[in-house]
Order: sequence, then structure tokens, then C-alpha cells
Amino acid sequence: MAIIEPVREEAELPHPKKKYSATLRLWHWANAIVITGSLLTVLSNSTITNGRKVSSLVQNELQHSGVTLTNDQARQAGHALSDSVWDVHVYFGYCLAGLLLFRLILEFFQLADQKFIRQLKKAYACFKSTKADRELAIHELTVKIIYSIFYLLLIIMVVTGLSLAFEDVAFLKPMRHTVKDVHGFCMYLILAFIVVHLAGVFLAERKRSKGIVSDMINGG
Ligand code: HEM
Ligand code: HEM
Repeated sequence: MAIIEPVREEAELPHPKKKYSATLRLWHWANAIVITGSLLTVLSNSTITNGRKVSSLVQNELQHSGVTLTNDQARQAGHALSDSVWDVHVYFGYCLAGLLLFRLILEFFQLADQKFIRQLKKAYACFKSTKADRELAIHELTVKIIYSIFYLLLIIMVVTGLSLAFEDVAFLKPMRHTVKDVHGFCMYLILAFIVVHLAGVFLAERKRSKGIVSDMINGG
């Protein structure tokens, strides 16, 4: 008697759609690394490589060895070091500008239901119509609004950062101080976003969305 083999169907199963596309994950982690690098350069220049601190340190150290530097010479030495750290900041800045462009282009090529704008609209529609799970609807909308604010801040940082990097362009010169103030102030908002984001992800991982961090690594 002939034995009928069961039909193997696994090979024909469609690939499950990932929650986060590979390109979004790549962007997310590259963005996190570049922003962290950029923040570290700011931290360095306000502590270890701070121009004023370095100049008085160099002046004092050389004085012990019998070399006297004028205040101007010491200031130049200090500034040279902090300027080279600012150069690194600007390289990170160019990478961040590239990543922002990449994120904007990605938004057009994402699958329809993975587009950020669409998810934001969906969260708003749910918030308006859902009566059953109000808490979840409010939470989803709040998270998306916080991401929207972050994207807006990123645009401001890149535009102001590039204007500082190209300050020699005539029409940008008179705005330098204001632009620098906006750029410096928005850093605190970015820091606030990072704190809220990390706390949110940590709580989500412990409560409703277990595995959310590994989803951001392997796609979900
Ligand atoms: C400088 C640091 C970081 C920045 C600026 C940042 C930014 C972002 C942004 C903008 C999104 C939304 C992406 C989108 O849907 O368009 C996001 C999502 C996410 N991030 Fe981060 N992130 C950072 C660090 C981290 C770290 C360290 C972790 C993990 C420990 C993490 C875990 C996640 C997860 C799990 C999501 C998806 C959450 C969701 O679906 O709402 N992020 N991040
Ligand atoms: C999240 C990202 C960024 C953070 C947190 C950040 C933070 C800062 C801070 C705090 C300063 C000092 C402002 C002051 O002295 O008042 C600064 C200066 C500067 N940033 Fe950024 N920045 C970021 C992105 C960028 C980008 C995208 C660029 C574009 C290339 C850029 C270019 C510059 C330049 C040219 C300066 C002036 C440096 C100098 O004084 O020689 N930054 N940044």
C-alpha cells in the first residue's frame, strides 16, 4: 500500500512582516550612537578640554618647569585643544545631518502601516474614537507626540548646527549669537527626550510590551 506523504507547507509560508523595518533599526541605533558621541564632545568641552581650564593648567604646569607663558599664549593653547574637540563635534554633526536626511527619505519608502505619520494619525484617530481602553489610547498618542517633538528638535539641531558650521556665509553671520543660543538650549530638550525615552522603554519592557528592546534589534 502506498504511503501518502503529508504536504510540506512551511516553504510556502510568506515572510512575517517585521514590526520595525531593518532600515529603521539601522537608523535608530546609528542615530543613538551619533547623538551620544555629539553629547560627549559637549561634555568634554565643558569639563576636561574646557579652554579656560586647560589654559590655566598649561600655564601652571609650565611655571613649575621654569617656563612662563603669557595669558594670551596660555589662552591660545587652551582654545586649540577645545577647538579640535569642536571639530569632532562638527563631524558628528554632519553624520547627524546625513541621518536626518536618511530618516526623511525612509519615511517615503516605508511600508504604508510602518510610516511614522500614518502611525501618528492612527494613534490620534484611536484616541478620538476608542471608549474601551482609554488609557492605552492616551499612552499610544503621547508616545507618538513625544517622538514628533524629538524629530522637530532634530531638525532644529541640524539646521542651527549647519548654520554655525557655515557661519562665514555672509547672511548667517549676524544671527550667530541667536542661532548658538537656540542650538545650546535645544540640547537640554534632547537630553530630556533621552531620559523620558529610556525610562519609557524600560517601563514598557517591564509591563505591557515585553521584548520591545529586542524588537528594536531583531525587528520583532
Ligand atoms: C540617544 C539615544 C536615543 C534616541 C535619540 C532614540 C530615539 C528614538 C526614536 C526617535 C524612536 C521612534 C522611531 C520611530 O518610530 O520613528 C525610538 C524608538 C525606540 N527606541 Fe530609541 N532612541 C535612543 C536610544 C535608545 C536606547 C538606548 C534604547 C534601548 C535601550 C532604545 C529603544 C527604543 C525602542 C524599543 C523603540 C521603539 C519604541 C516604540 O515602538 O514606541 N532607544 N527611539
Ligand atoms: C543632538 C545633537 C547636537 C547637540 C546636543 C549639540 C550641542 C551643541 C552645544 C551645546 C554647542 C555649544 C553651544 C554654545 O556654545 O552655546 C554646540 C556648538 C556647535 N555645534 Fe552642535 N549639537 C548638536 C548637533 C550639531 C549638528 C547637527 C551640527 C552641524 C554640523 C552642529 C554644529 C555645531 C557647531 C559648528 C558648533 C559651534 C562650535 C564652536 O563654538 O566652535 N551641532 N553644539
